[in-house]
Amino acid sequence: MAILNIEKYGSKILRQKSKHVDKITKDIKLLAKDMVETMYFAKGVGLAAPQVGQLLRFCVIDVSQDQKSPIVMINPEIVFGEDKKILNEGCLSIPEFYEKVKRFDKVIANYTDLDGSKKEVKAQGVLAVAIQHEVDHLDAKLFIDYLPDFKRKVIEKEIKRKKKAGNW
Ligand code: NI
Repeated sequence: MAILNIEKYGSKILRQKSKHVDKITKDIKLLAKDMVETMYFAKGVGLAAPQVGQLLRFCVIDVSQDQKSPIVMINPEIVFGEDKKILNEGCLSIPEFYEKVKRFDKVIANYTDLDGSKKEVKAQGVLAVAIQHEVDHLDAKLFIDYLPDFKRKVIEKEIKRKKKAGNW
């Protein structure tokens, strides 16, 4: 197991679409394990493969208190969403920035688990938000894309400043 490097905002890979996972190989299983470990280490509730430099459609999520129940979602697809709500959101690739984002409060998602079984999850609240956030990563989208222009520009400016100072 290993703690992986998390790509930060500005890295080109975060703006590239991930590819469908055709086969759950040994490498994918190992990567999933490392991603779970990396997510816990970074104190996040979700991590998508492109964030660790792999353009593959899968992600890991754990919104539980004890952080012992990771869900590995391969080729996740949101098939239903309702009840939009506003929640504060952050991202391990954009550390220290939290903003309000409007998303579905309830979603249904299909995915394949590490054993190759097809699963369906009905999620609400934080889990529903996490699924939408991670699936966005697979489509090269980031939560700050939902913000009004002026807010996103403030964040981009701040990140530039951090980069200059070597803090990014
Ligand atoms: Ni994120």
